[in-house]
Amino acid sequence: MPTDSPGRPRVILDCDPGHDDVIAIVVASHVTDLAGVTTVAGNAPLDRTTYNACVIRDAIDLDVEVHSGAERPLVAEPKFAGFVHGESGLDGADLPVPERGADSTDAVGFIIETCRASPGTWLVPTGPLTNIALAIRSAPDLLDHVSGISLMGGGTFGNRTPLAEFNVWADPEAAAVVFGSGADITMAGLDVTHQFLVTSDRIEQVAAMDSPFTNMITDLFRFFSENYISRHDRIRGAALHDPLAVLALARPDLFEAVDRHVAVETIGEHTAGMTVIDRRDISDREAPNVHVLERVDDGAAWDLVIEALHAANRRSTLRRTAP
Ligand code: BDR
Ligand code: CA
Repeated sequence: MPTDSPGRPRVILDCDPGHDDVIAIVVASHVTDLAGVTTVAGNAPLDRTTYNACVIRDAIDLDVEVHSGAERPLVAEPKFAGFVHGESGLDGADLPVPERGADSTDAVGFIIETCRASPGTWLVPTGPLTNIALAIRSAPDLLDHVSGISLMGGGTFGNRTPLAEFNVWADPEAAAVVFGSGADITMAGLDVTHQFLVTSDRIEQVAAMDSPFTNMITDLFRFFSENYISRHDRIRGAALHDPLAVLALARPDLFEAVDRHVAVETIGEHTAGMTVIDRRDISDREAPNVHVLERVDDGAAWDLVIEALHAANRRSTLRRTAP
C-alpha cells in the first residue's frame, strides 16, 4: 500500500456527518495520514454536514482543512437522512460551536490539487459520491495519482429501499461514474457494516470514559442506536458503517474480501441505487472492478475505535464547565 508515512495511508475523507461519519473522522485522525476532510450533501444539507465536520475538527483539535463541496446530486433530487441522523445530521448531543468554518467551498478542487501534489493518496468517501464523481470528471488525470478509493456504500441488500443503500441511492449517477471509473475500489457495503454494531455494552464502554468529548460521543451513539433499534424488527444497535472504509485501508488484516464486478443501477423503478454485484461462478462473468469487503473482525475494529477515541480525547479542546 503506497503511503506517505510508513504504515499510515494518506487519505482525503469525503463525508456527510452523520453520526458514523464522525467516528470515521476520529478513526482517520488516528490510523491514517489525514490530508483533509471534504463534505458533501447527504445525511443533511451541505451547510449542516460542513458545520458538523467543523464541530468535530475543533473538538479534537484536528489540524486539517475542511472544504465543502456539492450541494446536490448530479441528477437526482436532493434527499437527506433525517430519519436516521435527525434534521441536524448529528441529533442527540449538545454540540460545541466551532471557532473555525470551512476553509473553502471547493472540495473538488482541493481533492484534485491534493492528489496531484501527493501521489499515492487514497480517497475515502463515506457519503454520496457526488464530489468524487465531479473530481474524476473534471480531472481525467486524477486516477493516475490516487492509490484508490475506499468507500462506504452499496451491498447485496439495501437500507433506503429493498435493494439500495443510502449513499448510492442518494446520487446513483455519481456512484455509476465512480464504480465505472477504473479506479482501484474497495467497498464497505451493508453486508460488512451490519456486522459492526454500536451495542449497549459498547456505548457503556464509551460512557465510562466520562469526559466532555466522550460524553458527546456517548450521546451521539445513544441517539443513533436507539433510532436503529426503533426502526428495525431486531437489531442490537446502530451499524457503525463509515469507519470501516477507513479501517479497510489502515488494517486490511481485519477483513475478508472478494473481488467482484459491481455496477450501479440508475434507472430501475424498484432498483435505482442498487449495486449489482456479480457473484456468479461462471467463467464468462465480467472482470472484477471492486474489492468487496465481506467480513470484519468487529471486536478488533471496535477496539480500534476505542483507541482512536482515547487519542482524540487526549487532544480534545472540550472542557468541563463549572457546576
Ligand atoms: C450510510 O448512510 C448514512 O446514513 C451513513 O452515514 C452511512 O454513510 C449507510 O447507509
Ligand atoms: Ca456517511
